[in-house]
Amino acid sequence: MGCTVDEVLDDQAAGLRRLLARNPVRVVTLASGREGVGKTSDVLNLAVALAKRGRNVMVLDENPEERNLSHFLGLPSHYDLLQVMRREKTLEEVTQHGPEDIGIVSAARGVRELASLDDDGREWLVHSFTQFSRTPDVILVDALAGAEKNMLSLSLAAQEIVVAVSSQPASITDAYALIKVLSQQYGRRRFRILVNKVGAEDARAIFGNMAHAAKRFLKVTLDLMGHVPLDEKLGQSSRLGRSVVEAFPETASAANFRQLAEVLEQWPCPKDDTGQLRGFMQRLIHSSRMAAEGLSSGMS
Ligand SMILES: Nc1ncnc2c1ncn2[C@@H]1O[C@H](COP(=O)(O)OP(=O)(O)O)[C@@H](O)[C@H]1O
Ligand SMILES: [Mg+2]
Repeated sequence: MGCTVDEVLDDQAAGLRRLLARNPVRVVTLASGREGVGKTSDVLNLAVALAKRGRNVMVLDENPEERNLSHFLGLPSHYDLLQVMRREKTLEEVTQHGPEDIGIVSAARGVRELASLDDDGREWLVHSFTQFSRTPDVILVDALAGAEKNMLSLSLAAQEIVVAVSSQPASITDAYALIKVLSQQYGRRRFRILVNKVGAEDARAIFGNMAHAAKRFLKVTLDLMGHVPLDEKLGQSSRLGRSVVEAFPETASAANFRQLAEVLEQWPCPKDDTGQLRGFMQRLIHSSRMAAEGLSSGMS
């Protein structure tokens, strides 16, 4: 007692600032040139592995319901980001809880509407994320596969873009096409590559070819994030609607996911406002308008 209302508000604002300053959020988008490369499996297993390391993880899922993570996990269909934007639900209410208490937010409808939000709507959405009681340490985005302009905003807003490929040539050429659009039309210069369903040696060879072509023809740098071996146990855990990290912790792919989670945590951490939830939402709104308008960064 003894505090004036102003003092309480001041105190809350200061508390919030401290909280935000202490808890930068990493936003990592997993993108791919096409379906079927293992991207959703990557998102789930990285999320679970990070959560097991004590991180608060949110998955932002851009995929339609039949291909989203909630559906994969057998969770009942639920509210989504659009309902937050329409002020019908809070972010807490639309968040579903997966294994290891990872938060899952379905954003299939919301992201498409972002570009047409008015000022009030934008401020509301930013506010919703700022007020969110479970500030995540890491947001993993399961982006829509492909390189169409209106689907790129979640990649453009992320600090890190991981492009997932498999050994299939089509997945590699489509990934290259995606990197081309993101670099030439939107000015992104760095991408990390995750090679799925192969051994370490094949992953290095696939990455080497991609990095060489990207450097030569697109003038962009690729970094190898790592690989996930082809693992029957991963397929089996998918059929059970579970992560392999939990269902078969001893298997090879589970070990790799644990290692990849460690790798992700060692990436440089954003220090400015890009490392805060509010900054991410603002970038996301901005990039969705850029993508909708097909704005170029001046390069061709
Ligand atoms: N490392 C792997 N080893 C074996 N099967 C895998 C592996 N990664 C993914 N899969 C299987 O490939 C299929 C597609 O995976 P999914 O994660 O849904 O890909 P995407 O999200 O890219 O469409 C699923 O049946 C999944 O179980
Ligand atoms: Mg998927």
